[in-house]
Amino acid sequence: MMSSVLRPGVFSPYYQVTKQGVKSLMFPGAKELLPAAAGTRLAHTDIKIPDFSDYRRPEVLDPQKSSQESTESRKAFSYLMTGATTVIGVYAAKTVVTQFVSSMSASADVLALSKIEIKLSDIPEGKNMTFKWRGKPLFVRHRTEKEIATEAGVNLGELRDPQHDKDRVLNPKWIIVLGVCTHLGCVPIANAGDYGGYYCPCHGSHYDSSGRIRKGPAPLNLEVPYYEFPDEETVIVG
Ligand code: FES
Repeated sequence: MMSSVLRPGVFSPYYQVTKQGVKSLMFPGAKELLPAAAGTRLAHTDIKIPDFSDYRRPEVLDPQKSSQESTESRKAFSYLMTGATTVIGVYAAKTVVTQFVSSMSASADVLALSKIEIKLSDIPEGKNMTFKWRGKPLFVRHRTEKEIATEAGVNLGELRDPQHDKDRVLNPKWIIVLGVCTHLGCVPIANAGDYGGYYCPCHGSHYDSSGRIRKGPAPLNLEVPYYEFPDEETVIVG
């Protein structure tokens, strides 16, 4: 192409000069090593262009055909590839996020330590037992029928932190609370105080046998932790 532009145009004199110049710069014998037309060729037309036919879609292999005719089929392929890539990308992102979030949650051994399983048949009726759970005292009280009836009949209007007994227990026989006074954190004494529930000697807070504050400076009822009864004889706290 270069030669066809240069030969007939205004650059012909310079082209001739260049041709002569190149010839004059050749070392003796070089001319014999070159092909016959080497001195006049200005473009590298002998470079082999790679054949990408294997990678092209069959619809566009024929250069005589208009690409408009295969638009629909090529669009379908493009949409299919885009959709598939999106699905794979979303799935990969979901996996990464799930693994990242689950890496922040507690491991199984830590979770096991955070729970306590208590055998209820070891606690006689009318007694309270104290367990250590997550570094705090945990009270589990086996209530008598009288205590259950008394706590169920308390007028909520009398309470500082109004809460019905049935909202604090899963099974009325068992009241399970944290043994931490809601005033300043002392450990109350079980089966003591004016209401027969718990008594905090630090500043004189009285709780009933539902763990509700009835008298003294404590502002709130004793906290009820999460627990469940897998069977009649067992409770799991935590
Ligand atoms: S800490 Fe229990 S009454 Fe003050």
